[in-house]
Amino acid sequence: MKDFNGKVAVVTGAASGIGLALARALAGQGMKVVLADVEDEALRGAAETLAGEGAETLAVRTDVTVADDVSALAERTLDRFGAVHVICNNAGVFTGGLTWEAPLEDWEWVMGVNLLGVVHGIRTFVPILLEQDEGHVVNTASMAGVTSMPFTGVYCTSKHAVLALSESLYHELALRGAKVGVSALCPEEVATRIDRSERNRPDHLKRPADAPESAEGVVMQEAITQAVNRGTPPETIAARVLDAIRDERFYVLSDGAWRRACETRLEDIRLGRNPTFSPPVETGS
Ligand SMILES: NC(=O)c1ccc[n+]([C@@H]2O[C@H](COP(=O)([O-])OP(=O)(O)OC[C@H]3O[C@@H](n4cnc5c(N)ncnc54)[C@H](O)[C@@H]3O)[C@@H](O)[C@H]2O)c1
Repeated sequence: MKDFNGKVAVVTGAASGIGLALARALAGQGMKVVLADVEDEALRGAAETLAGEGAETLAVRTDVTVADDVSALAERTLDRFGAVHVICNNAGVFTGGLTWEAPLEDWEWVMGVNLLGVVHGIRTFVPILLEQDEGHVVNTASMAGVTSMPFTGVYCTSKHAVLALSESLYHELALRGAKVGVSALCPEEVATRIDRSERNRPDHLKRPADAPESAEGVVMQEAITQAVNRGTPPETIAARVLDAIRDERFYVLSDGAWRRACETRLEDIRLGRNPTFSPPVETGS
């Protein structure tokens, strides 16, 4: 999609971080923007801020884990703006810890938001884009979706799944010859509130009081906070996404140490050797 002006974008997880930056960048191209998020107050604030900057916005409280909420989001969008051209399935949450200790509540919550949220977005919006025969789907995966690391098994699993799902979608649309593009956004550490994801964990999926909390889990939580604090500005990620939509580019990857970690993993697979642990840390060389 080359021309954004006057068209309509829907962004989930738009109240904060990468989603808010995406909404702002798309609005900056003259798009009408529908902001969807589960965090009510932050959502209203984000929509008001963008409207104050001159954007035409609609805020729809949406829990992406609930299929009916995502259907209602599409209905509200079509009622208000009559079309959807870009859908960013971006809402996501993080939790860390040892794979064998992660309580089922962690799995249900993270897979619900990070994977099923994208599934609901695809099931709801792709038929609309196909009907128009115009549009672009952006699914937020992560560099954690092209690498693997210890103490992040639940999150990495969700992001690998989003990448595979996005690749399948890409193939299907290409085989149809549809004028609907797909991009998989794989950011590195970004300065957002992802390290405070617990703020949106629903009560029924809270970790049980007796769930084990390993030292590795605590260290990982601290590492995530440090990493996002020195992370890439979300605006940089949003600019990459605009370029990818314009260029119809699928992989929106990070460079540097993360890219090398991804290449090492692909080489492990190619050679059939055991997984190399290559922490994505810049060496300065
Ligand atoms: N920040 C990073 O370092 C980083 C790196 C790679 C990928 N990502 C991915 O980027 C995406 C955006 O995260 P972020 O870093 O901007 O974090 P963030 O916490 O700043 O924003 C995430 C947004 O998702 C919303 N959300 C959470 N649960 C939801 C639900 N059930 N329904 C609707 N909205 C919900 C939150 O309210 C929040 O506004 C996520 O998919 C995340 O996994 C982030």
